[in-house]
Amino acid sequence: MPRVLSGIQPTGDVHLGNYLGAIRQWVEHQHHHDAYFCVVDLHALTVPRDPAHLRARTLETAQLLLAAGLDPSVCTLFVQSHRHEHAELAWVLQCVASIGELRRMTQFKDKAAREGEEAARVGLFTYPVLQAADILLYQADHVPVGDEQRQHLELCRDLAERFNHRYGEVFTVPEATVPAVGARIMDLQVPTMKMSKSSESPQGTISILDDPEVVTRKIKRAVTDTEAEVRYDPKDKPGVSNLLTILAAATGRSVEDAAAGYTQYGPLKADTAEAVVELLAPVRARYRELEVEKDAAAILAQGAAKAASVAAPTVTRAREAVGLLPRA
Ligand code: AMP
Ligand code: TRP
Repeated sequence: MPRVLSGIQPTGDVHLGNYLGAIRQWVEHQHHHDAYFCVVDLHALTVPRDPAHLRARTLETAQLLLAAGLDPSVCTLFVQSHRHEHAELAWVLQCVASIGELRRMTQFKDKAAREGEEAARVGLFTYPVLQAADILLYQADHVPVGDEQRQHLELCRDLAERFNHRYGEVFTVPEATVPAVGARIMDLQVPTMKMSKSSESPQGTISILDDPEVVTRKIKRAVTDTEAEVRYDPKDKPGVSNLLTILAAATGRSVEDAAAGYTQYGPLKADTAEAVVELLAPVRARYRELEVEKDAAAILAQGAAKAASVAAPTVTRAREAVGLLPRA
């Protein structure tokens, strides 16, 4: 069976973009792949966080993934920091990556620009190398992610190829799997900005646990434009195009099919809201059940143990390939 791995940061409410861009693919993939999914808490340390908050969010994010449909009897769900191999391989790969190629990462440039590069944490800079370690440790063939992770995946492939060339074949060179529709969901209030966990736009972000009334209100108030023409054109009509993308992704159609028949924004918004409410209803229902069960911690412990069976041999091969003395 081909292997998949992907991760999500425990840094805020899991939102519709995460669901349509990534998580929904994970739920699908788990049935015909050897599938590994991790809550990437080490990545969350790259910007300031409250420790108690991070701890709580890590567990909550795992619960949300279970509610979204990850099934621990068929996939491996774990917390990144519970496997020390991630940090260990990240160091080795930091000695394969170059400063120049990390400088070209647009996510680093954007994030560092906000606070100024001088004060940015070194971990923010080396973040994509840790991500490459996450993937390469499990010899993943496919990495289901949203559109903005493409560049990090390209870097991961480059590092794998360079390592294999320099030290001998150790790593599988992975491929990004990006959904045809829904790989980049935009903020409903600022449709030129992607919907994000760290956004300061609660009205523009749909959390996967939002009440149906809240979902409907946010979509009805989504920013559109002053024309009255329903047409997919992300450049000139970002708001309407985002609604069409959401409607199409939620109902499993192309954006062109989703646009057919609409002449006004009101009905488009009403149908989009209905489709999203329907899409998220089972997630909300399962989340409520899981809250009662509180078994996520045990599932994560089992996941970490299972992850070790793949991660440990890989890190040993990588260590020995670069010339570290084998451990007794
Ligand atoms: P993050 O929220 O950065 O931890 O992202 C977790 C996953 O969700 C990654 O695969 C992202 O590419 C994906 N993702 C995040 N935001 C969006 C978005 N607005 N639209 C589509 N996918 C997204
Ligand atoms: N950087 C990814 C994001 O912000 C999260 C991530 C960390 C990831 N490690 C990963 C995604 C490994 C895929 C595979 O979305």
